[in-house]
Amino acid sequence: MRKNQSMEKNNYNIDFPTEIVKEGKINISVPKLKAFIKSPSEYAPSKAPVFYNPVMELNRDLAVLALQTYQRTVNHEISVCEPLAGCGIRGIRFATEVKGVQKVLINDINEKASQLARYNVQMNGLSKRVTVKNEDANLLLAHYGAPRKRFDAIDIDPFGSPVPYLDSAIRALRKGGLLALTATDMAPLCGVHPKACIRKYGGKPLRTEYCHELAVRLLAGCLATTAAKHDIGISVVFSHSTNHYIRIYATANYGAKKADESIKNMGYMLHCFRCFHRETTKELLLLEHSGKCSECNSKLNIAGPLWIGKIFDREFCELMQQEAKQRRFRLEERIGKILALIKGEAEAPVTYYVIDKLCDLLALPVPSVKKVAEILRKGGFQASLTHFNSKGMRTNASAINMRELLEKL
Ligand SMILES: C[S@@+](CC[C@H](N)C(=O)[O-])C[C@H]1O[C@@H](n2cnc3c(N)ncnc32)[C@H](O)[C@@H]1O
Ligand SMILES: [Zn+2]
Repeated sequence: MRKNQSMEKNNYNIDFPTEIVKEGKINISVPKLKAFIKSPSEYAPSKAPVFYNPVMELNRDLAVLALQTYQRTVNHEISVCEPLAGCGIRGIRFATEVKGVQKVLINDINEKASQLARYNVQMNGLSKRVTVKNEDANLLLAHYGAPRKRFDAIDIDPFGSPVPYLDSAIRALRKGGLLALTATDMAPLCGVHPKACIRKYGGKPLRTEYCHELAVRLLAGCLATTAAKHDIGISVVFSHSTNHYIRIYATANYGAKKADESIKNMGYMLHCFRCFHRETTKELLLLEHSGKCSECNSKLNIAGPLWIGKIFDREFCELMQQEAKQRRFRLEERIGKILALIKGEAEAPVTYYVIDKLCDLLALPVPSVKKVAEILRKGGFQASLTHFNSKGMRTNASAINMRELLEKL
């Protein structure tokens, strides 16, 4: 490290090894991860005194695109809060890469993190527009939960579940504001630890082949019921499941009626593990449901209550695609593929079949998903691929239809 850089670091009490990395359009000082791991099996980001995960670049790139899309949609200057910021990389990228961002508030409870974030803000020449704080996220957000104090956008990117921050984030979000949530606790959300999911998200998960979609729906459902308590409805404009986490982007629609409308999207997913049949049902109807599979009469398993409404907005996704084309992200190819898949599945039926799983059950060779899509469309069914699973197929064909089609193939 150059001498003046190390002297500057001393002014910020940064007493651990760091290095400069480039991500998006910024250069940023991050903990030197290699210096903190003692064995190759250790998870480096959590060993460093300040959290930094290079793998989350994709998450941050998509966050930049979503925020820019949101800003262009509302067409005014926006304020943004990142209450769990680590070294500040995400908030600093928002301030640098998203046009129309007037102010960013970055915060972390870890003093070393907020010191490093302060250093990074100064290094990127953003001191006038970016403020750094060192508080508990809920305490911080509570200060902003009043008219004329609220943020246009809040990005919650915690360790594990974002649920402990939902109430205060909703209260600190302006009418029409955008809330982004990351959840990395995939074991509860995907049904490995169902009790933890029920406890945290208020809904039962199910270990199906489309459990990642259910995870998004459980998180969206939890957000919708939390927002409804404050007379706020939500619209989920974008979501994705990538690497080891899920992410949702939702806008807040103020008013009791909007909250009622939003709650109408709550329901259950019923799944048959014998024949892969699945169906959605609304909360009240569950009492009247036979609980039997309509295709093979086996007992159905239940997931929910969860969000059975839209988890992507096609137009929002298309605008994100346009934004992506104007940038030169390092992960541009992967981002292009994800956005194209999401745009294609945005209006497709809820859940997807995984072709490998069906073929396993039927002891058949596995055809390509493209071939299956082609044949489904020829048969008059809807068919779209999904970013959730490379072998996934969203279709309105029933489990019996799928079985017949694969047998013919
Ligand atoms: C996953 S990291 C954030 C990563 C960051 N958003 C990024 O994109 O690189 C989660 C951060 O939350 C901070 N944190 C944990 N509990 C907190 C709390 N109650 N209030 C504020 N920050 C908290 C941790 O210190 C950690 O830096
Ligand atoms: Zn069945």
